[in-house]
Parts: sequence; structure tokens; C-alpha cells
Amino acid sequence: MTIHLTAAAEELRNLDGLTPREIVAELDRYVVGQQAAKRAVAVALRNRIRRQRLPPEAAAEVTPKNILMIGPTGVGKTEIARRLARLSASPFLKVEASKFTEVGYVGRDVDSMIRDLTESAVDMVRREKQAEVREKAERNVEEQLLDLLLPPSRPGFDAGGEERAPEPGAAEPARSTREKLREQLRAGALDTRTVEVEVRERSFPSFQILSSQGLEEMDVNLKDMLPGLFGGKTKRRRLTLPEAREVLRSEEEARLVDADLVARLAVERVQGSGIVFLDEIDKIAGRESGRGPDVSREGVQRDILPIVEGTTVSTKYGPVRTDHILFIAAGAFHVSKPSDLIPELQGRFPIRVELESLTLEDLVRILTEPRNALIKQYQALLATEGVEVSFTDEAIREMARLATDVNNSTENIGARRLATILETVLDEVSFEGGSAGPRTVRIDAAEVRTKLAPLVKDQDLSRFIL
Ligand SMILES: Nc1ncnc2c1ncn2[C@@H]1O[C@H](COP(=O)(O)OP(=O)(O)OP(=O)(O)O)[C@@H](O)[C@H]1O
Ligand SMILES: [Mg+2]
Repeated sequence: MTIHLTAAAEELRNLDGLTPREIVAELDRYVVGQQAAKRAVAVALRNRIRRQRLPPEAAAEVTPKNILMIGPTGVGKTEIARRLARLSASPFLKVEASKFTEVGYVGRDVDSMIRDLTESAVDMVRREKQAEVREKAERNVEEQLLDLLLPPSRPGFDAGGEERAPEPGAAEPARSTREKLREQLRAGALDTRTVEVEVRERSFPSFQILSSQGLEEMDVNLKDMLPGLFGGKTKRRRLTLPEAREVLRSEEEARLVDADLVARLAVERVQGSGIVFLDEIDKIAGRESGRGPDVSREGVQRDILPIVEGTTVSTKYGPVRTDHILFIAAGAFHVSKPSDLIPELQGRFPIRVELESLTLEDLVRILTEPRNALIKQYQALLATEGVEVSFTDEAIREMARLATDVNNSTENIGARRLATILETVLDEVSFEGGSAGPRTVRIDAAEVRTKLAPLVKDQDLSRFIL
């Protein structure tokens, strides 16, 4: 197996600076507590960079240490993965293990996760490459727009037979007219004018292929063979200048970027630094042999195994080796235990981290601290209508306390409980919004109690509402 230095070098640019400590600090901005899990993913991430610095022969030997995150529902497993994806700038895919089935059954086959991962890497690389050519594309588009506004006059031809608006300064030489137009174009003075542009049609195939496997095969073959069928046709449309600029720019960017290079870099990047987050892995734990119409869970595990162990999956961008892709699996393991996974699969997830149930203190912090904390979200939403909402510290503590109560008395759904709690507390404020003009709303503990106490006391009600 070869190590592609280009991919390595590119990755270093993104992540080189981040030490495990810094990765944890980044995650801290969004996820409260769960230090063990954060540490494990930070180390795994860093180890990939360390690996890329090894000489190729040594690097090939180092396989990623896949992680199994175990913890009750709603305590941040998926959230950690989501944040990690943003942070790492690696190709990242999150899939529910439960949606896979054994080959031959209805459902997705496991290879599709590598195909999807590659697809996301291609998007990523393409966007980067397009950003590199953006300036050039914009220059070209400007010329194209000028051509459309003022068709270049050729000797013997009457320029602009279709031209609608009278040309400004038609008497002047074409060149200076063009420069004047260019100035107006840049100043936005022509934004209301319309031009006719060839637009690529985004038509979808008029028939639906029902088997999911069939669709994936289609991906590889038919799409490329029959571009006309899948939206290669063009059509003339009249668009305003800003619209036309957008259309032309995206076409120009696509034209300037070498698709083969994008595919190659993307495959390299998937192989060297791809991350697959296998959520709900506990749902496929179990070793019963699937008799009857049920799909055998063990069968799915056996299908997943080679991918985690290292195999080659063919994608439309070329074969992809999975040896160095990092897998992070997560599950609540309420019913099943990690030991219910087939031994081979257990062995491929050597790092086990447990996420803890959230304490009252954690819930208080989750309400207020993360960058995207729920309270901040509501405040921002209502602020758009001039409503300024604030909570007293006691009110926040009271919400966390009630959330803990309901979690204990009905079902523990972790931080997810906060969403319904907050929704109930802010119900009236959200309904009225800014309809009666700007105002400030201050929510205190008493208010929280009046809104929630009746619901929390009544088990049946809280089962339905909170
Ligand atoms: N430790 C935490 N810090 C901040 N927010 C959290 C934390 N735990 C949960 N949340 C919030 O609760 C919601 C649910 O969390 P998440 O999706 O991570 O649950 P999960 O652990 O994956 O649960 P499940 O096992 O049901 O998939 C998220 O929107 C997240 O913002
Ligand atoms: Mg989850």
C-alpha cells in the first residue's frame, strides 16, 4: 500500500496545529463534560497526523485505533462526533448501523458508507479547488456577461440583433462601450437587466429504481454513460444579471476544476484521514441467527467487519482502501452489551469510552454554556422580533432540576429533555413574539415553576408533554 504525500501534506495544513489538548478545548465549546470520550477522540485524531509523518513503510503498519463510545441516550455521543467532523476537516460520515442489512436484503449494503464518505470527500475537495479558481472564474464570467450584454461585433454582421435596451453610447467604438458597461456592471447598475443564458437542466431520471442496490450500481455505471438522461441537457433561459452571474460562475468553476484531480485527491483523503461514525451500533449487536423474515444482526456485523478491518470498496471515483479509515462507533447498549457484538468486531474497537449520565450541574451548563446553547438559540430567535428574553440563574437551575426530575421519574433521555422543558416555558413568549412591539421578558424561578410544576407532578401528563 502506498502513502500519498499530497494527501498527507494537505491534511497537515488543516490540523497540524491542534494538539489533543486543543482538540478537547475545541470540543469543550460545544459539549459539556464527557472528558474521557473527548480525550479518546482527540488522541485518535492526533495519531493520524502522527502516522502521516512516518516514513511510508512504517505508516502502512499503523492501523487506526477505532473507538467505541458507550453511554445512555442524549448525553452527547452524536454531538461529539458532529463537532469532531467540523473540527477535523477530514471527510466524515455519520451513519446509523441499524439501517444496513445483509447483502441481498432490502436496505443499504455496507459498502455504501464508503461510497458516501468518498462522495463527501469529493464535495470537500471540489469546493477547495473551486475556491482556488474563484477569481479567475469571476473574471471569465464578467467577460461572458459583457458578451451577452453587448455581443462582440464582427465585420459584416449586425451586432446584437436581439438586443433590447438601447446601447449606451452606440456611436463610440465598441471597446470603450464595453469598458463603460463593465463599470456599470461592477457598480451593480445593470442588475435589473435580463440576459439569455444556456442553463444546464437539472432533471432527474423519470423512472425510479426501487432496489437500493440497483441505485448504487446505477451510480457507478449509467450516470456516466447516459449523461443526457441525468441532466446533461441545456436550455436557454432569461435571467436577471445577478442570477445569470451565479449560474455562469458555478459552470465556470466546474469547468476550470479538473474532475480527475478532484477524484484522485478525494480518494487519497478518504484513505488517509476519513472518519466514519457508526451510530446506534448496539442495535445490531446480538448473535441470534436470523430465522424468519428478520434480518440477522450477526449477518450485518459480518458484513461490516471487512470494511473495518480493511478492504477495497469500488466507488465511481475508483477503488478505496479502508485500512486507515477511523471508525467511531456509538451506542446506548441498554439492552445489549458490547460483548454481544461478534468477537472479531469487538476486537476492532479496542478503545472503549463510557459517557456518563448528565448531572443537574451538567444540565445547567448545557443550557447556558455551549456556543449553540438552547437558551442562546431562543434568545437569538426572539431577538429578531425585538423581544429580549433573559433568565435568572435560579430559573435556569429550576429548569435543570425539573428536567432531572422528569428524567428520573419517566425515562432518562438526557439533555434532550431540556428542549421540551424550554419550549414549554417559552410557549407564550414564542407565541406572542414581537407582535405587540419590542419588549423585554425576564423569566424567574417562580415563572418556571408555575409553567412546569403541574406537568412534572402529573406523571401521565409529563409522559406526553415533557
Ligand atoms: N454533554 C453535552 N453537552 C452539550 N449538549 C449536549 C450534551 N449531551 C447532549 N447534548 C444535547 O442533547 C442533544 C442530544 O445529544 P446527542 O445527539 O449527542 O445524544 P446521543 O448521546 O447521541 O444519544 P442517542 O444514544 O440517543 O443517539 C443534542 O442536541 C445536544 O446538543
Ligand atoms: Mg446519537
